[in-house]
Amino acid sequence: MGTFVEVAKENDLGEGEGKTVQANGKAIALYKKGGAFYALDNTCLHAGGPLGEGTLDGELVTCPLHGWQYHLKTGACETVPGMEVAVYKVKTENGKVFVEV
Ligand code: FES
Repeated sequence: MGTFVEVAKENDLGEGEGKTVQANGKAIALYKKGGAFYALDNTCLHAGGPLGEGTLDGELVTCPLHGWQYHLKTGACETVPGMEVAVYKVKTENGKVFVEV
């Protein structure tokens, strides 16, 4: 079990938006979809692109560098099946967003 670390305010992200946040020195891509928040490793498995700076298309996060795609909720790579990035539990409390690391 990790500990929940505050990474953002709920209002920092609009629907469908993402950003890169830091939690205990770890770079995490945080996305908001359907009013809920999702967190996955920020580092693309292709060449290290920042997934938090990517775009969300349905439930797929697209890396801003060369377009590899990852499932928002599972971290599974759509582009190269079998590869995946870690995903993290997220909770919100009093307008703040926390990620478990
Ligand atoms: S670094 Fe992400 S697709 Fe190349």
